Amino acid sequence: MSAVYWNGGSVTRHPGFRDPRTIDPPAAATPAETGPSIRGLAPGEPAGTRVGQGSGQAGSPAHGRSPERQAVASAEPEPEPVTAHGAMTVRLVLYGAGALAREIVDVLERLNAHETAIQLQASIVDPGIDAPETFRARPVVRDVRTFAGDDSLRFVVALGEPGPRARAVAHLRTEIGARFATIIDPGVLIGASSRIGAGAVLLGHSSVTADVQLGDHVLVNPGCTVAHDNVLEDFATLSPGVHLAGHVQVGEGAFLGTGACVIPKIRIGAHALVGAGAVVIRNVAPGRTVFGNPARPLPTRPLRRD
Ligand SMILES: CC(C)(COP(=O)(O)OP(=O)(O)OC[C@H]1O[C@@H](n2cnc3c(N)ncnc32)[C@H](O)[C@@H]1OP(=O)(O)O)[C@@H](O)C(=O)NCCC(=O)NCCS
Repeated sequence: MSAVYWNGGSVTRHPGFRDPRTIDPPAAATPAETGPSIRGLAPGEPAGTRVGQGSGQAGSPAHGRSPERQAVASAEPEPEPVTAHGAMTVRLVLYGAGALAREIVDVLERLNAHETAIQLQASIVDPGIDAPETFRARPVVRDVRTFAGDDSLRFVVALGEPGPRARAVAHLRTEIGARFATIIDPGVLIGASSRIGAGAVLLGHSSVTADVQLGDHVLVNPGCTVAHDNVLEDFATLSPGVHLAGHVQVGEGAFLGTGACVIPKIRIGAHALVGAGAVVIRNVAPGRTVFGNPARPLPTRPLRRD
């Protein structure tokens, strides 16, 4: 059964994942870092609207505090009451009007073919980016403040790159206190013990097995395997056909290219980039690019991902 519902609970941080670039010492937290936010939910607090199928719950790991992340955290609004499964209409706004947005619209159509009622309202495209006036027969809007004050809206950021996605999320939160929907294709298999963060997007024919933790705004493209006990931090991105064996940890904003494979217990650092088709058999340091079989570091220089 497909369902639209608030999902209580929160993702707890994997105890073994200590990425020095993203994990700050626990002392001296400020109110902005500990107030109500997707980063600081108490266990059981609702975290976001989830749209789709599967039995996992949404929530968020408590993460480190980059400036961008602080901006996100401090703008997080109070959560809404829990609503019964299957009976809610979601008014959705996409941020983006490109390939991922088109794929998400396809997911929405599949969900609406079940019992879910998701009404696409509009798409947001940054000023200066060339785009038509409409996207999928809905208006293209240039200023997120167009949606200010409408608490019934939910947003999903349809940008495939983790950096722009994180910036868009921060922008939406700081400008209008946006709340995010989690989009899960009905064809995704999700283990009952797995947790999925707010704003995550999971596209078709992927499997998320037992005790997986997906952070907020994670993107799982089609045909991925996310095996048992994996932890994907916020904004981590799996391109099509990525296969993660068990106990893999993917840091915040890391990007894995098409068809990459990762053997068990590997740690991929925050903002690392794994090349298409790479076979990762050793840990990847934060910010590094690796590629090939076995995956080896690429010398530091400008990168091209598409
Ligand atoms: C690894 C990667 C980031 C390197 O990008 P880059 O820095 O622009 O590298 P270049 O294209 O200049 O290639 C540099 C060299 O590495 C090789 N190379 C590039 N990517 C490779 C890969 N994935 N596997 C093996 N070799 C690769 C090139 O053949 C080239 O070799 P050469 O110097 O002997 O000719 C990129 O190729 C990649 O794999 N990106 C992932 C893209 C992706 O999957 N996107 C998903 C969209 S949904």
